[in-house]
Amino acid sequence: MDNSTLTSLVSELSALATAYAPSTGHDAASQAPKVALVNLTRKIQQSLMDPAMMVQAHSLQMAEMVSVRTLLDLKVFEKMPTDESERITGKELSEQSGVQQALLERLFRPLVASGFITQSGDGSYGSTKFSQAYTSFPGLFFTLMFDHFLQPMTDLPKYLAKHGAVEPTSFYVNPYSDYHNASDSGLTTWEIMSKDPQKLKTFQIGLTTGDAMVPITGYYDFNQLALTEEELEKHGDRVSLVDIGGGVGNVAKRILDEYKELKPENIVLEDLNSIIDMAEKEETVPDGVKVLKHDFWTEQPVKGAKAYYFRRVFHDYSDELCAKLLKQVIPAMTAPDSRVLVADMLLPEIMTAKEAHTAALDVACMVMGGKERTEQDFRMLFQSVGLEVVAIHRAPGAAAGVVEGRLKS
Ligand SMILES: C[S@@+](CC[C@H](N)C(=O)[O-])C[C@H]1O[C@@H](n2cnc3c(N)ncnc32)[C@H](O)[C@@H]1O
Repeated sequence: MDNSTLTSLVSELSALATAYAPSTGHDAASQAPKVALVNLTRKIQQSLMDPAMMVQAHSLQMAEMVSVRTLLDLKVFEKMPTDESERITGKELSEQSGVQQALLERLFRPLVASGFITQSGDGSYGSTKFSQAYTSFPGLFFTLMFDHFLQPMTDLPKYLAKHGAVEPTSFYVNPYSDYHNASDSGLTTWEIMSKDPQKLKTFQIGLTTGDAMVPITGYYDFNQLALTEEELEKHGDRVSLVDIGGGVGNVAKRILDEYKELKPENIVLEDLNSIIDMAEKEETVPDGVKVLKHDFWTEQPVKGAKAYYFRRVFHDYSDELCAKLLKQVIPAMTAPDSRVLVADMLLPEIMTAKEAHTAALDVACMVMGGKERTEQDFRMLFQSVGLEVVAIHRAPGAAAGVVEGRLKS
């Protein structure tokens, strides 16, 4: 790269840095200026790196991830001082954590190199905002990504050599089941995961991060599903919204809290027996909302509802299986205004650094035979079962939205 390109990138960086005002908001819009700065610094770095440096960078990332995951397990970060200016020696840390000093020092080297922890001239160590944060929720999410996605994914070449170079689409045979030597077991991914309660717990806690990536409210107007007096006079039992695979009711609650024209008695929450039992036991179903134990691979029993809503369900399944899900709902769309609403992440058609997280999560979904989708993917999926997309409601600032479909006229 010539000097003029470098200086122009650096000038761009300088302009962005001058205008930068740190935000405490965690939503995508508040984070955008920071993300732009980080991405630009990466662009500058990459423009300077030759391919051998990229290999070095990847190698460091591999060592760093393994070290972080191992040290989380050994509970080493939590033994480090939380004040970044305080130091701890390798010997002290070894005594406090029970980890051999030599091993500790070797696992720490990649982390000092990457800036995850610090090391002083006398050899002692210090924590950073990263190592401190990893002792709580971010560390759990990292563990989820490492254990459930990275580990099976490292065997992807082997998996593809065995099953063909095509996207994994099954819930029974996929990189996750192969990694657990369970591809012939007839067990689903969830059943395999359930065999290890600790792993299942990590997965469930980690999932709450994914939750924020598909906002529930603030872009699709659920008030439009409210039933008028006239409609209720004609069909007293008509339903506004069926929340299919709706979990324990927290999504329905958020919708009702924000969209006051909707009546809880016109909402049906559907999920598997065990989830509905749990929701009722823990009283998480909003007052008035009807519950139904329903397996979404079977025909939808609530007919003529205004909307059949799937949030964060489709990304768990291949196109073929999502088509099956839609086919269970189509016969129930008996009213002219019946709609399917699919809320999920929306991958950009052309990948950008600012939406990098969507690519990471799509690859994670692939491990279990699932898939994140672009708008175009959704249009093709809907079309394949005789639905047309009438609108795509995008969540502002997020790579997510609600895809609205109806029967083709
Ligand atoms: C990722 S969670 C999404 C939950 C909720 N919609 C949300 O956005 O938080 C997927 C949901 O699908 C449910 N589910 C899985 N298989 C199902 C089936 N065969 N029938 C009905 N629900 C199912 C799960 O129990 C879980 O609640």
